[in-house]
Amino acid sequence: MTSNQKLAVVTGAAGFIGSHLCEGLLKEGYKVRAIDCFTPYYGRDYKDSNLAPLVGQERFEFHESDLRTADLFPLLHGADVLYHLAAQPGVRASWGEDFVVYAGHNITATHRLLEAARGSELRRVVYASSSSVYGEAVSAQTKETDLPRPISPYGVSKLAGENLMSVYASQFGLETVSLRYFTVCGPRQRPDMAFTKMLKAAFEGEAFPVYGSGEQERDFTFVGDVVAANVAAAERGESGAVYNIGGGNPVTLNQTIQFVEKHTGEKVRVKNLEAAEGDPKRTAADISLARDVLGYAPKVSVQDAIGEQVAWFKGKQGPLSRSKGPVL
Ligand SMILES: NC(=O)c1ccc[n+]([C@@H]2O[C@H](COP(=O)([O-])OP(=O)(O)OC[C@H]3O[C@@H](n4cnc5c(N)ncnc54)[C@H](O)[C@@H]3O)[C@@H](O)[C@H]2O)c1
Repeated sequence: MTSNQKLAVVTGAAGFIGSHLCEGLLKEGYKVRAIDCFTPYYGRDYKDSNLAPLVGQERFEFHESDLRTADLFPLLHGADVLYHLAAQPGVRASWGEDFVVYAGHNITATHRLLEAARGSELRRVVYASSSSVYGEAVSAQTKETDLPRPISPYGVSKLAGENLMSVYASQFGLETVSLRYFTVCGPRQRPDMAFTKMLKAAFEGEAFPVYGSGEQERDFTFVGDVVAANVAAAERGESGAVYNIGGGNPVTLNQTIQFVEKHTGEKVRVKNLEAAEGDPKRTAADISLARDVLGYAPKVSVQDAIGEQVAWFKGKQGPLSRSKGPVL
């Protein structure tokens, strides 16, 4: 079977990263079966815009289905690779009563998918994990062998999904690979994420909330590099393994405000707030394992990623700026 006959299933396809992955897989020659249930965390108008370049393409099909309840066997039928990106994201909203939402979308849905996957012809499952599984960094550059100690309920739910992947790999021989993404940025970034909020501050006058001093460091990763890592993980990742997918050059939140101001020529008005529980002070990935095994090499710096995100934000039509942002 040649790659242009292979079918990839992508969950969370209407989201920020999932929609880019669908585009990347179509370019690679795959047929794509995309799944999303349009959770209300942020506006459906945003997600419809994410899907707009995909809908109508010959090798693309979309299913509006909730992984917590749908019959998943037909959705996986005939697929070669499953990329599981659907999740309830967001660290700050994961405290309190809404944890049940995280448990449903991040743990129950993942478990149901794996049960369906082990009875299917799938060659491999690639899971979207997160740097949040690490909690506070214990070394200058976090390695996959560092003990995961999440400091937020969101991080706990993503680690549970990752552990489910390795359990199904070891117990049932299902091939699984988990990728720990470090803060992803670029066009279509979610409205609750920092750069999109900074752009709203720059262009629409909304104040940008800075939690704590703004000196927290993040290893920002361009969405196109995350897509390349996913494709490589399906082809070359070791089954049962996890890989850090970072940008390789951590910067502080305050520095990124300066980058946004430089790219937009606008001032970002900030609103200082207390440091948020569950937000680590620093994330920095050691990406040597992904480099050696997957051939992963991030190509776009955070400065250039912000430039791409600014161009997208300027070019977007009304619905995105009308969206009010997260609601659970
Ligand atoms: N954005 C980041 O910086 C980042 C960092 C680390 C990990 N991740 C992980 O990457 C993945 C994608 O993140 P994103 O930023 O694109 O988020 P997103 O919210 O934009 O996309 C997730 C999509 O999944 C869908 N979804 C959620 N639960 C579902 C269910 N039960 N059934 C069907 N669809 C469902 C949502 O409707 C949404 O469109 C998530 O697994 C997230 O945990 C993201």
